[in-house]
Amino acid sequence: MARSIAILYFSGTGNTEALAEDFRNEFRKKKKKTELIRVEDLLSGKAVFRPKDHDLIGIGYPIHALSFPRIFVRFLRDLPRAQDKRTFIFKSPGDPFGNGGSTAYLRKKLNQKGYQVIYETTLVMPANVFFRYPDSMIKQLFLHAQKKIKQAVDEILHNTVRLQKNNLFLDIFTEFFNRGAHLACYLFGKEMRTTKACNLCLVCVKKCPTQNIRLEQKKIKFGRKCTLCVKCFCICPKNAVYYRGMKWAIVKPWYDLARIMKDRQIRPDHLTPRTRGYFRRFYKYLIKNQ
Ligand SMILES: Cc1cc2nc3c(=O)[nH]c(=O)nc-3n(C[C@H](O)[C@H](O)[C@H](O)COP(=O)(O)O)c2cc1C
Repeated sequence: MARSIAILYFSGTGNTEALAEDFRNEFRKKKKKTELIRVEDLLSGKAVFRPKDHDLIGIGYPIHALSFPRIFVRFLRDLPRAQDKRTFIFKSPGDPFGNGGSTAYLRKKLNQKGYQVIYETTLVMPANVFFRYPDSMIKQLFLHAQKKIKQAVDEILHNTVRLQKNNLFLDIFTEFFNRGAHLACYLFGKEMRTTKACNLCLVCVKKCPTQNIRLEQKKIKFGRKCTLCVKCFCICPKNAVYYRGMKWAIVKPWYDLARIMKDRQIRPDHLTPRTRGYFRRFYKYLIKNQ
């Protein structure tokens, strides 16, 4: 039985953070001491993580190009070694397609560092790129994720082993696609710009998890360390950050998960047995047991 739990997570726009907080709440209800640690705080030395202080580790991340975000390359490299540490993974894609991609590579890397992945769960959340889902669907997805977290916490504490079934094709495709995306972060991250609406409040500079944004000669400049988490787009109070050549890629207007969850007028009933077309697989994801 786990006594102390550490949940290490990365979240660009708040979805994975909301899930991590939910995991913490559920573990705390079971009287388990649980600590949340942001990956970027770990990398910058702001937070300390000692595997021996915990007997269960959670790792959470948003899906970027079928797998983990670029910042995880450094995270995995710097993660302190552990010994047979029980670990669970939760990932938050914006679409149930492909189960969020293979976790074979991540599991292998964690295993090499002494983290034994015993449980995985995919928690579909609103997409922060391409499509702005309706508020009622956003609420429905998050409520469903909360239900799954409750079940996951029960199962993890009862030592249930639940691992995603990967296959060779998915493993190879995911790794190929994801590495391409990491290269794209390097190449295209620099292509962010700010419009005239920018008032140099520097929120983006302060909050960028990879310290990729700086003020230079009274202008906001973007570097090559971008992890494409799109936090700068969503936190800009003036909505002034955009991606050169791909303005359409980021969802607008931005959704406020906390507001949507609080608003009683928003009913979580967008996906129904009658849902067809693009969103049909979202409904199928809702009715699947796991
Ligand atoms: C660069 C980038 C790539 C993404 N790739 C995928 C993907 O391959 N599959 C998917 O389902 N969602 C993808 N998404 C959507 C996010 O995974 C999803 O919205 C997630 O819940 C965001 O979590 P966060 O708010 O914690 O950052 C991508 C988002 C970004 C910014």
